[in-house]
Amino acid sequence: MSDIVLDRAAAPRPTPKPGIMDIAPYVPGKSKIDGVEHPLKLSANENILGSSPAAREAFSTAFDQLQMYPDGRTTALREALAAKYGLEPERLLFGCGSDEIFQLLNQTFLEPGDNIVQGEFGFGAYAIGARACQAEVRMAREPNYRVDVDELLKLIDARTRIVFVANPANPTGTWNSAEEIRRLHAALPPSVVLCLDGAYAEFCHDPAYEDGMSMVREFDNVVVTRTFSKLHGLAALRVGWAYMPEEMADAIDRIRLPFNVNIPAQLAAVAALADDEFQERSLALVDQWRPWLTQQLGGLGLEPLPSAANFVLVGFPTAPGKTAREADAFLSARGLIVRYVAGYGLPNHLRITIGLEEHNRAIVEALQDFMKGEPA
Ligand SMILES: Cc1ncc(COP(=O)(O)O)c(C=O)c1O
Repeated sequence: MSDIVLDRAAAPRPTPKPGIMDIAPYVPGKSKIDGVEHPLKLSANENILGSSPAAREAFSTAFDQLQMYPDGRTTALREALAAKYGLEPERLLFGCGSDEIFQLLNQTFLEPGDNIVQGEFGFGAYAIGARACQAEVRMAREPNYRVDVDELLKLIDARTRIVFVANPANPTGTWNSAEEIRRLHAALPPSVVLCLDGAYAEFCHDPAYEDGMSMVREFDNVVVTRTFSKLHGLAALRVGWAYMPEEMADAIDRIRLPFNVNIPAQLAAVAALADDEFQERSLALVDQWRPWLTQQLGGLGLEPLPSAANFVLVGFPTAPGKTAREADAFLSARGLIVRYVAGYGLPNHLRITIGLEEHNRAIVEALQDFMKGEPA
């Protein structure tokens, strides 16, 4: 037995294993403003159009099934996804949000002392799960707020088990080309899992972008994750899925909780997937207002990053009176909730989800007043 185990055995009360208490708990963005009854929430990259009417209808039929366990294989959704995207059903894995799939990957592949590699502004869920496995989290520099292949590769060593790349990324909204992702893959040892997190994949239309699905078929070590939380507006129901090599799905399935996607979630996701009209409307809204918001924010003297997701990250000056933190407070005073992303290592930025026309205009108007030094 190691010293650590002996120490824990002698402890006066149950003691979490080493590393657990060093994990900073995930802090969600604020969703309320004191004294404001109906604030506008543009802080969590949710779908501002709500969710598909067909999905809502399907959800409501679950009332009659509350006494039942869900289908542990998520069969109907598995078949619907396989048919829609031309995927092999046995390569699909479902999770309570894609968050759970990152956890499962970490649990399946990481031993204490192993490491994961991700970008320095990478999505927080990867690291929490890795640390819980007593693995090291290595953060590669992101020059110009973009995941950089060479910076990732510098951190890979014999103990690297998983490389996580969100593409497009959150919170930056930036993305990597197919050529970059394939160059990264080609330089990785074949024993390293490359997880391409496609939570925002549908919002990126550039021809140089690749969602990674065909890489999953070409290689034994590529996983693509997707979610119903963004495009489909079903964040509350927690449905994520992954496309991966069959052997990997078989391994992960052994530790997955048997009923991890509930009945209302499965029913709504199947209906949402079939509702092309809602998906097209959601994409059209982002396509219309993302460039407008980006251009307007730039016109105010701020520094929006070019985004391929359903939000824009915008940089603020560091001069007192003009900072991101003060802008966040100013927007809150006007009933507008955006995401202050200091927790991601970006203390000079705010992340703003694309809203309806009137929401986007309200944000720009408020920030114009803020930059002019007017009172909130
Ligand atoms: C990059 C990224 N990946 C994954 C997720 C998690 O999505 P889910 O709701 O499927 O757990 C999010 C949610 O914000 C995200 O931004």
